[in-house]
Order: sequence, then C-alpha cells, then structure tokens
Amino acid sequence: MDHKIVMLTAYDYPTARIADRAGVDIVLVGDSLANVVLGLDATSQVGMDVMLHHAKAVCRGVESAMVVVDMPVDAMQGDSLKDARKLIEAGCDAVKIEWSAHCLEAVKAICSAGIAVMGHVGLTPQTAQEFKVQGRDAASAKLIMDQALAMQETGCFAIVLECVPEMLAQEMTRILKIPTIGIGAGKFCDGQVLVLHDMLGLNDRKVPKFVKQYVDLSAAMASAIGSYKEDVISGKFPGPEHTFH
Ligand code: KIV
Repeated sequence: MDHKIVMLTAYDYPTARIADRAGVDIVLVGDSLANVVLGLDATSQVGMDVMLHHAKAVCRGVESAMVVVDMPVDAMQGDSLKDARKLIEAGCDAVKIEWSAHCLEAVKAICSAGIAVMGHVGLTPQTAQEFKVQGRDAASAKLIMDQALAMQETGCFAIVLECVPEMLAQEMTRILKIPTIGIGAGKFCDGQVLVLHDMLGLNDRKVPKFVKQYVDLSAAMASAIGSYKEDVISGKFPGPEHTFH
C-alpha cells in the first residue's frame, strides 16, 4: 500500500455508501454500534443476529472498500467458524477478533478455513474492565506485544491497536510484519480508524481525547429538524412546489 490505511466504521447502508464513495480503504462494521447506534452500554451486549443485520446493510452500500466486521464476544464461546462463515456469506471480506482468553482458537479455526481475520489488541472493549490507556508500564506493554505477535503467528492479516502509548504502537509497527491500524495509538501505525459517529459529531457522549471531530452533525440535524417544525407550524411547508395540483 502506497499510503496509510484509512479505516472508518459504518453500520448502515447510507453511511457505508458515503464512506465508500469518499474513498476509505476499509469499512468496519464495528460492534461500537452497540453504543453509538443502539444506545446500549457495552459492545458485549450485541450478538451475532445484530452484527449480521448491520453487516448486510453495510455490504449493500459498499462497492470498492474492503468490509471488515466485528465478531461478537459470545461467538468466541460457540462455533466461531460457523458464525464467521455467516458474516462472509453476508458479503463481508474479513472478520475482526478482539483479544480475549480463547480468541486464538477461533482465529486459528477461521484462518484455516481461508477467511481473513483482523486482530485487535490494547484496549479491547468487549472484555475491558476499565476504559483507559493500556500498556503504559513495561509488563503490560510486553503483554500487548506478545498478544499481537500471537495473533500474527496464528494468521491475522492486520491488527488494530487501541488506546496504547504512541511509543509502544511505533515499536509494534516496527516489529510486526502485518499492518497496524491505530485508534488512540498515535501517528506511527500503518493506518488509522475512527468511529464514524464520533468524527461526525453525532454523539451526545463525551468523546475520547484521540477523536478528531470533523463536523458537528448533531447541531446541523437539530437545526434542520427545528426549521421543519417551524415550517409545519407556520404553514410554510408544504409549499406549492411540494404539492400535486
Ligand atoms: O467497534 C469498533 O468500532 C472498533 C473500532 C474502535 C476499532 O472496534
């Protein structure tokens, strides 16, 4: 790849279509949809049925980008290969697996079946107890490095590094043979990923420090809906141009 990998989440047909047409390399159907689309507290609250539903919508909207979809955490306990196959049959190009106790068995089974797997280490929201920067001391930095190496050895083609210090991400990017895609991991990764709703300002929640908000869509939408309300109340809408005569 001659430029940094650009990855962005999308969870439905229209946003996937916009992201694809804007030229992102990878559209991620992230399980962050639990928080930003469904108003749930944790990504562990979404299962295969929900991921599959959103993956199908995203795949309908994407023509050029690679589509990667998060495997829900419950899938690690069940028949993960069967679940990965369902996501690929829905049109996704690869699945993403977050580091967790038995994840390597799933990565091995899925990769052996010829399905591309992206790994995810550092802050892993599906199982995290605390949402804070990971790998700040030597022991936890080594643990994250070892997890990434194990995911690479087991067959992952790329890996997300979430919320780790820039120096650790830089070292991991140097040592790993597979590309690193950072979120809150500084500028030295091979690519970057953001949650769509965070970068578009479509959230009420406080966004983490690593998010760059490019536009305030919540304000733009609230203003448009307010104008519609005023027009309906005042009788300005519908006008003659919106009316069949
Ligand atoms: O679910 C998600 O959006 C993710 C990104 C934060 C990488 O996993």
